[in-house]
Amino acid sequence: MTTTRPLTFIRRGKRVTLHDVAPDRTLLDLLREDLHHTGTKEGCGEGDCGACTVVLGERATDTNGQPAITYRAINSCIRLAHSIDGMALWTVEDLATDPLIRPAGGDAAPPPGCLHPAQESMVACHGSQCGFCTPGFVMSLFGMYQNRVVPGQSISRAQAQEDLSGNLCRCTGYRPIFDAAQRMETLPRVAVDEAALLSQLGALAHPPQGTEGYQAPATLASLLQARAERPHAQIVAGCTDVGLWITKQHRQFAQVLDVTRAAELRRVEPLPGGGLRIGAAVNLQDAYAALCATRPQLQNFAARFAGLPVRNSGTLGGNVANGSPIGDSMPLLIALDAQVVLASVRGQRALPLESLYTGYRQNVIAADEIVAFIDVPPAADDEFLRAYKVSKRQDDDISAVCLAIRLVLRDGVVAHASIGAGGVAATPARARDAEATLVGRPWSAEAATAAGAALQAEFSPISDMRASSAYRSVLLGNLLQRFWRESQGQAGASLASIDIVELTA
Ligand code: FES
Ligand code: FES
Repeated sequence: MTTTRPLTFIRRGKRVTLHDVAPDRTLLDLLREDLHHTGTKEGCGEGDCGACTVVLGERATDTNGQPAITYRAINSCIRLAHSIDGMALWTVEDLATDPLIRPAGGDAAPPPGCLHPAQESMVACHGSQCGFCTPGFVMSLFGMYQNRVVPGQSISRAQAQEDLSGNLCRCTGYRPIFDAAQRMETLPRVAVDEAALLSQLGALAHPPQGTEGYQAPATLASLLQARAERPHAQIVAGCTDVGLWITKQHRQFAQVLDVTRAAELRRVEPLPGGGLRIGAAVNLQDAYAALCATRPQLQNFAARFAGLPVRNSGTLGGNVANGSPIGDSMPLLIALDAQVVLASVRGQRALPLESLYTGYRQNVIAADEIVAFIDVPPAADDEFLRAYKVSKRQDDDISAVCLAIRLVLRDGVVAHASIGAGGVAATPARARDAEATLVGRPWSAEAATAAGAALQAEFSPISDMRASSAYRSVLLGNLLQRFWRESQGQAGASLASIDIVELTA
């Protein structure tokens, strides 16, 4: 077996140290098969159902520069065990037994067997039937409790739906689970003793790693050095795709290089002259929050990128480096004229995002390079931007077609057009013919129709289980029509425009 250093984390207020954990061991297998803690369930093994949801706590700095803890619900089935080194872990078995979870404002530990509000509200609202999904829902509710529940402020139905978007239930119809989410804030408040936990997490700090099978360098320089020395190590970030190579393809990785601890890659920073530099290790939830801060029209598109546990683990850089033709970030980034910055011990180079890809899952990244940053130009005053995702389900699904369109209009004429498309070619693609149809032309219904026809001529999508070739092709033209209508102030016929209303008896 490849040597790895001991894996340490905090659970139930205690330091856990595990030896000889293989570099490609998943967190779920560690819990269920090695520790025999079977409360966390395995449904799909690919990040779709949420039965395996656990919550991670990580040291961070709040907006006032003070030490804080971030709480993130993640899918343990596709997360590597070593990736939680130095963090706090909660599973469904821990909420009623963790001595660090106490009545708010009090020092006393709760009485034995006292349920957490996430559990108590599920019981009271009859949120469980067969119960298989329940541990995952409870942990997503715990994550929601830590991040959103404020005394006196109710959780909206839409918020509950978004935070539970990565959990599937075949029995309940969801209504009682949403009820439980909204009921949590009415129960006596409990809180994690963060001062105690921060102190415990601080004591876990490791010296830099040596030559073990799982490396997670803390700086960009040390990461690039590690990459240069081990060009064949499997790079991972949030592992939301590599995890499936392990669980579904049974691939094994003796050497893993985790990019998510490199401090420089964990930041979102302003670019000189405007725009954003998003570090490749920034998770999708935070990366899209940064993009939506200046382009709020992307909010619905961002919320539809998988379920929350996937967005909490997966990174923008991972999505880009992976280069799946059905990944949702790349069409948007192409429309935003983003540049990707590749780094190695030889230096850095920047290229337009669409130039990264040369074929199906093929790219120009050299053996010693990593994706380091994604640079996104600022929003133009007169830009009109929309990103569309068409999939069979509203939540937690993969696109049949993804199309992002950005026009800059000057006096009614298209001064700039950038269009990114996914699901219609072997790579994420830039629709250059459609762009050329538009640039220099007055923006009109005729121009939109011509661009839609150019889009359809430009791509020859395949048929697969998500959609037929013909349907995808029709979608391209129809989405251009929808874009035209929305540019004229007409609301699109979109599920996003349907409000979730509470049924009353
Ligand atoms: Fe289904 Fe992990 S087992 S998401
Ligand atoms: Fe049966 Fe949710 S209670 S799957």
